[in-house]
Amino acid sequence: MGSIALLVLVCTSSWLLLPHPAAAATAPKLPVRAVNLGGWLVTEGWIKPSLFYGIRNNDTMDGTQLQFMSATQKRYLVADKGGGAAILADRVNASGWETFRLWRINETTFNLRVNGGQFWGVNNTGALVATATTPGQSETFQLVRRDSDKSRVRIRAPNGFFLQVKTMASVTADYGQNTNWSDNDPSVFVTNNVGGLQGEYQLCNGYGIANATQVLMNHRNIFITERDFNFMASSGLNAVRVPVGWWIASGDNPPPPFVGGSLQFLDKAFSWGQKYNISVIVTLHAAPGSQNPYEHSATRDGSQEWGNTDANIAQTVQVIDFLAKRYANNTALLAIELLNEPLAPGANLSVLTKYYQDGYNAVRRYTPASYVIMSNRLNIANQTEILQFVGSFDGAVLDVHYYNLFDSKFDSLTVEQNIDFVRNNRSSDLKAITNQNGRPLTFVGEWSAAWGVQGANKTDYQRFAKVQQDVYGNATFGWAYWTLQNPFQPWNMTYMIQDGIIILKS
Ligand SMILES: *[C@@H]1O[C@H](CO)[C@@H](O)[C@H](O)[C@H]1NC(C)=O
Ligand SMILES: *[C@@H]1O[C@H](CO)[C@@H](O)[C@H](O)[C@H]1NC(C)=O
Ligand SMILES: *[C@@H]1O[C@H](CO)[C@@H](O)[C@H](O)[C@H]1NC(C)=O
Ligand SMILES: *[C@@H]1O[C@H](CO)[C@@H](O)[C@H](O)[C@H]1NC(C)=O
Ligand SMILES: *[C@@H]1O[C@H](CO)[C@@H](O)[C@H](O)[C@H]1NC(C)=O
Ligand SMILES: *[C@@H]1O[C@H](CO)[C@@H](O)[C@H](O)[C@H]1NC(C)=O
Ligand SMILES: *[C@@H]1O[C@H](CO)[C@@H](O)[C@H](O)[C@H]1NC(C)=O
Ligand SMILES: *[C@@H]1O[C@H](CO)[C@@H](O)[C@H](O)[C@H]1NC(C)=O
Ligand SMILES: *[C@@H]1O[C@H](CO)[C@@H](O)[C@H](O)[C@H]1NC(C)=O
Ligand SMILES: *[C@@H]1O[C@H](CO)[C@@H](O)[C@H](O)[C@H]1NC(C)=O
Ligand SMILES: *[C@@H]1O[C@H](CO)[C@@H](O)[C@H](O)[C@H]1NC(C)=O
Ligand SMILES: *[C@@H]1O[C@H](CO)[C@@H](O)[C@H](O)[C@H]1NC(C)=O
Repeated sequence: MGSIALLVLVCTSSWLLLPHPAAAATAPKLPVRAVNLGGWLVTEGWIKPSLFYGIRNNDTMDGTQLQFMSATQKRYLVADKGGGAAILADRVNASGWETFRLWRINETTFNLRVNGGQFWGVNNTGALVATATTPGQSETFQLVRRDSDKSRVRIRAPNGFFLQVKTMASVTADYGQNTNWSDNDPSVFVTNNVGGLQGEYQLCNGYGIANATQVLMNHRNIFITERDFNFMASSGLNAVRVPVGWWIASGDNPPPPFVGGSLQFLDKAFSWGQKYNISVIVTLHAAPGSQNPYEHSATRDGSQEWGNTDANIAQTVQVIDFLAKRYANNTALLAIELLNEPLAPGANLSVLTKYYQDGYNAVRRYTPASYVIMSNRLNIANQTEILQFVGSFDGAVLDVHYYNLFDSKFDSLTVEQNIDFVRNNRSSDLKAITNQNGRPLTFVGEWSAAWGVQGANKTDYQRFAKVQQDVYGNATFGWAYWTLQNPFQPWNMTYMIQDGIIILKS
């Protein structure tokens, strides 16, 4: 943004005359030492696998990726051209075009989506094709699995017949006979399950609305409680970062399959926050359409459609508006984070910055004091691509996430190399986004002491956590550990504090 534009922006920001951000009574002095409440109001299966145990056929959920090998031909089904054409059965190996994502209708009935985004269907001559861009009745298939070996399936087409592979170039829906599941049966396929998601979409659609409401109500009730806030306060933490999904703004009956109820628990977080002097940062982890392909954006099948239309952006701003309005005058509100981990190229830079501008304005309609957090695009090498943009807003914060994971460069690092990486690379990364004038403030909104080192001892973990606290302690807004409760100890800050690996009080 040019300096003239900046000047106009500053001069027209009347809220500058109002008290400076963080005027709220309980607001902590910056930088904050915070922890995320991951897996609470936005489902993440790895944080609580048992949530999925009650779902029938929980290995075929929305977004499950299947490959189908014809038992007779020993070849994989493929979406010719990646989609928009026939499905053939001539591939020796399977990867992208040979992998199909499920949309679950119920435990046995599905739409199947090809790489290019189209859905399986049967055309007038009975051939299996991938041409429909939205699924309807004629794109709905039933997976009939062998009882004694669930990887063997037959696929009933919408016309009532099973698919069969007559030749490698012909998959048709015209097989009516029973099966003995042998390799001689052209209607038998052997499936590989090569990936899946365990997010809010999968959970809700897997249980159905009534059961999902019960399961999530129970989970939210026991997973984070008032005792956790007491624990955080007594441990020296002063803020929480709470992931929420867009449906939190939709009342008790959000669009299916999502279910209501998360709002009352966010209300609880605020009241416990007030009681124990823990400030609340609300982060929009799941935006409508999903801003990344991960389960914590509540994606249905790994596709990322957030920001594709103006209406979608406007809907997202409405969610921020709702949250800002509800909590603006709550003394526990510290910040609203507009979007967690947007990913390029789906999250287009100009769309993202327009959304950040609109989202910022929405927050400022209700509160001059709370901070507004904007995230870097997670997968962009240039960590300063929105630095100047974010710095142009008063009370704005730039969020970056630092994990020594999720990149093969960390796979074989030793204890010392991990520690050195934080001390050298992360501190210079952080320095590169830290402007002398404090605009924007900087926030390491996620980090953890989990790493790729095998067999590390307690001292190793202590040193790794300590160097991160030291370095991220330089972030001007603060940091937030991922996460408070987790079955894996290094990801479980409660454990890390109780075991003396992370020490907060100095
Ligand atoms: C709340 O915490 C802040 C520091 O984070 C402190 O300045 C303030 O006195 C605390 N307020 C209460 C009521 O304990
Ligand atoms: C499905 O549920 C069963 C228990 O009913 C559990 O053992 C299994 O791990 C679950 N599978 C998945 C993928 O969640
Ligand atoms: C159906 O699809 C097959 C395979 O792509 C094609 O050969 C055939 O012409 C199609 N028939 C119709 C009526 O579209
Ligand atoms: C299939 O994969 C194998 C093993 O990775 C490889 O050797 C072979 O060349 C591949 N075949 C084709 C047709 O891509
Ligand atoms: C699943 O949906 C299909 C199509 O609507 C229906 O025929 C079938 O009975 C349903 N199965 C179950 C178990 O609900
Ligand atoms: C199973 O059915 C196939 C035809 O689909 C037939 O060729 C084969 O002999 C049968 N095998 C047994 C063991 O009955
Ligand atoms: C939902 O719960 C009811 C009652 O416990 C049970 O009968 C039903 O099978 C459940 N449905 C699913 C999809 O789990
Ligand atoms: C917040 O409090 C102020 C002053 O009491 C009031 O004017 C404003 O309407 C309140 N805002 C909201 C969103 O409740
Ligand atoms: C990163 O992006 C910023 C903003 O567009 C630009 O000024 C800077 O030159 C870029 N840095 C690199 C290394 O590309
Ligand atoms: C922990 O392992 C490190 C090597 O990573 C070693 O130097 C140290 O002595 C060990 N400490 C204890 C208490 O075993
Ligand atoms: C924190 O920042 C200051 C100023 O840039 C620097 O001197 C110091 O080394 C940094 N500390 C760490 C642990 O990175
Ligand atoms: C996290 O660690 C604490 C302390 O060991 C433990 O009580 C708690 O059950 C753990 N959380 C989860 C989700 O496993």
